[in-house]
Amino acid sequence: MKLRSVRGTHDIFGEEIDKFNFISNIVSKNANLKEYKEIQTPIFEFSDLFAKPLGEHSDVVLKEMYSFEDRNNEFLTLRPEYTTPMIRAAITNNLLNELPLKIFGIGPMFRRERPQKGRYRQFNQINFEILGTKDFLADVELISLSNNILNELLPKSNIKLHINSLGDKKTLIDFKNSLTKYFDIHKKKLSEESIKKIETNPLRILDSKNEEDVEISLSSPKIYEYLTDEAKKHYEDLKRSLNILEINFEENANLVRGLDYYCNTVFEYKSDNLGSQDTLLGGGRYDGLIKVLGGPDIPGIGWAAGIERIALLMESEKKINSTIHIAVTNEKFIDYFLYLQKYLSENRIPYYWNYKYNLKKSFSKANTSSASYIIIIGENEFNGDFFTIKNLTTGEQKELKLNQIFNHLNDKSR
Ligand code: HAM
Repeated sequence: MKLRSVRGTHDIFGEEIDKFNFISNIVSKNANLKEYKEIQTPIFEFSDLFAKPLGEHSDVVLKEMYSFEDRNNEFLTLRPEYTTPMIRAAITNNLLNELPLKIFGIGPMFRRERPQKGRYRQFNQINFEILGTKDFLADVELISLSNNILNELLPKSNIKLHINSLGDKKTLIDFKNSLTKYFDIHKKKLSEESIKKIETNPLRILDSKNEEDVEISLSSPKIYEYLTDEAKKHYEDLKRSLNILEINFEENANLVRGLDYYCNTVFEYKSDNLGSQDTLLGGGRYDGLIKVLGGPDIPGIGWAAGIERIALLMESEKKINSTIHIAVTNEKFIDYFLYLQKYLSENRIPYYWNYKYNLKKSFSKANTSSASYIIIIGENEFNGDFFTIKNLTTGEQKELKLNQIFNHLNDKSR
């Protein structure tokens, strides 16, 4: 048997795992700053949890869920997303006593999609939710949080925030009806895929990428005309706040999201550098969902971002690898090196050593690993009681006493 991994899955190692850990650290740091509590739920749940809330006609439920019957004849599904399991966990663990509940989670999701760049069958998501408030400031907080995290992770990337409002459930029903009528009239010009959605899921025709579908959608009814006064006010308050916070956004009337549970605010961050899988973060309000899942009738809002897609964009960004390599030129200097090791460990400075007493090999390893610094220990250093530190990016070289190393690295590399 030829050994291989399952299609659409990937092993994460080397530079990619460094990126994953870096992303997780930034996410946890931001979550702590805003007092979101971490939650980890099992990777599989009862299948019933997903079908209705995600939408019986959504692509995820129709084609993408990994579901199976176990030996007790129970139907289980590998979680395709995190919002419903998190709400399930909040209900079953009685976490909804004190509201609002602010939670976040990081972990693998499973969707049987056609694999391509940025699209996997097992992928990892960062997920933030606020349960129990209708206040538009919760929408502002979550968008601002996503903005902070993405700015920190991808400071140079050109990412655009798109927003829209889907109004309340009644608005959506009226809007869907009028879309169905409109698309029915223009049926002949639509793609085959979209024709199938006219009756079941006309909203999804709006975000089709097929050229003819896009053309027809341009003149389709617009949701804004269907919003109630309350929904309009919520949307206007949100936009005003984003402007005050100087968070750039684009209004996108065709932004509808792929899961059925949304209402009012929806948003996505898109990048031109991701190919066809251009959305790296998406979310919105889901007032009504918690009740559908058997909890109290309270509102909620959240977002999720794909870690693989963020990592892909980090490729064109700075190297996050600020490793320090050590070059020891002769075994004679081991004791001197031990002093350095103790100092680096005490100051929590990560370093790498290749166990080779060879300056050339140490430099070559540091270069191939994209290390930021190399610390050299040789005859001169030992005799003079100093360490030579070379910045491998700028070429700058300094002779420093042991107790000067931390400040030097802190100035230059962090
Ligand atoms: P979603 O738009 O289905 O939303 O997924 C969120 C993000 O997960 C996407 O923007 C993308 O970056 C990533 N993603 C989705 N599918 C794949 C895939 N096959 N391969 C790689 N990355 C993928 C949700 O899942 C909602 N639960 C978000 C949410 C939270 N809404 C409210 N709260």
